[in-house]
Amino acid sequence: MGTKLYIKTYGCQMNEYDSEKTVDILKEKRGIEVTSNIEEADIILLNTCSIRDKAEAKVFSELGRLNKLKVKNPNLKIGVGGCVATQEGLNIKKRAPYVDLIYGPQTLHRVSDLLDIDQSKGIKAIDITFPIEEKFDSLPSPTSAGPSSFVAIMEGCSKYCSFCVVPYTRGDEVSRKPDQIFDEVARLAEQGVSEITFIGQNVNSYKMPYKDRILRLSDLIEIISHIDGVERIRFTTSHPLDMTDDLIDVYQYVPQLVSQLHLPVQSGSNRILEKMKRNYTVDIFTDALERIRSHRPDLRVSSDFIVGFPGETEKDFNDTMDLVNQIKFDSSYSFIYSKRPGTPASKLDDNTPMAEKKERLDILQAQLNKHHKEHSMSMIGSIQRCLVTGLSKKSAHQLQARTECNRVVNFDFQNIGFIGKLVDISIDETFSYSLLGTLHNSTGQN
Ligand code: SAH
Ligand code: F3S
Repeated sequence: MGTKLYIKTYGCQMNEYDSEKTVDILKEKRGIEVTSNIEEADIILLNTCSIRDKAEAKVFSELGRLNKLKVKNPNLKIGVGGCVATQEGLNIKKRAPYVDLIYGPQTLHRVSDLLDIDQSKGIKAIDITFPIEEKFDSLPSPTSAGPSSFVAIMEGCSKYCSFCVVPYTRGDEVSRKPDQIFDEVARLAEQGVSEITFIGQNVNSYKMPYKDRILRLSDLIEIISHIDGVERIRFTTSHPLDMTDDLIDVYQYVPQLVSQLHLPVQSGSNRILEKMKRNYTVDIFTDALERIRSHRPDLRVSSDFIVGFPGETEKDFNDTMDLVNQIKFDSSYSFIYSKRPGTPASKLDDNTPMAEKKERLDILQAQLNKHHKEHSMSMIGSIQRCLVTGLSKKSAHQLQARTECNRVVNFDFQNIGFIGKLVDISIDETFSYSLLGTLHNSTGQN
């Protein structure tokens, strides 16, 4: 019987991608099998997130539970990876001495070597360095797990927003070599993947020399749009400051690029944006959206918001609400500011009571939800181009698809061959988390 790996992923899409790659590497190097039953695992890896204190606290409570499994099975290996590993390093061993290995987001390709270290000789199995290029060079050939796949194009972040730990946990920005990206997309497309999502902490600051020019995100999008089988292209996350003209123009000439954009704004108050070191104003943000809308009037925009940043006044919060009411965002994320050790914002005075911050978050989320619902309602009767992603979770007679704005649509089907294809669906009904529709063209298109 092969070695069984249980891997648990916290946090962002980059962590999901990293977990998939860790599995691929351990399959290649050690022939492991993945199990969803933690009790039977020989290796347990936690791929952690430290963006907010709650995410970090979850990891330590999970480690407490894992200790019991270790008592039952002393051969069990427990590893902590991801951003908490980089942030806390050997402190993890102080709080949970039974942890066998500690690796960061950029050293997941060395996990197999860390597992082999004989710690009885006093060598510690820890590696939280930042060999990002080596990591990209070590990734095995990608395998698809459905019609939609992430492709990392860069890693890390050099923006150093005053509240954020990412530059410290993932390191400064490094762009991936263009040939690796094109090769990964082509291999995924050969396996039937039709939707590619470029991922990274700041994908629109991508910059890499290639042949005799410098490639940017806009070039990557344009180039992969010519790869056979690539029907849909997304990217996340991007920064408002890097919404350059070339990227805006690409909406005009690459039809596969979806009319949906996730663009974190964080706050609608220029005063707070400055304290956050975001380096843009609300006008720069709205201007970028307007310019994309000149090519795509139907653009849907989602965003990230932080409420209760140190010193946020009622007026600052109202500025955020004004922006929300102006843009009418779709499917956004919002959080109460969380003080992260080592960040410049952690030193700022913060006098707003938590109860008030929670109240602001409730007001913001109610409005974001209202707009999300209104967007869904406005789709009733319309025909949406959808990517069929698999069988529906609701009924054996239905397939599940996703609209350009990433809503789940369930619809009755006659042909299972639609999976992985783009089809037109007319929208009949809306629910909180999904839509119900009817297949409009029954041929399915490639
Ligand atoms: N690269 C993205 C951010 C990635 S982190 C960008 O350009 O903004 C994902 C989201 O987590 C951020 O957009 C922010 O809204 C939230 N976040 C980050 N640090 C936070 C903190 N200290 N407290 C609360 N929310 C935070
Ligand atoms: Fe964090 Fe700002 Fe970068 S939110 S990931 S430091 S753009």
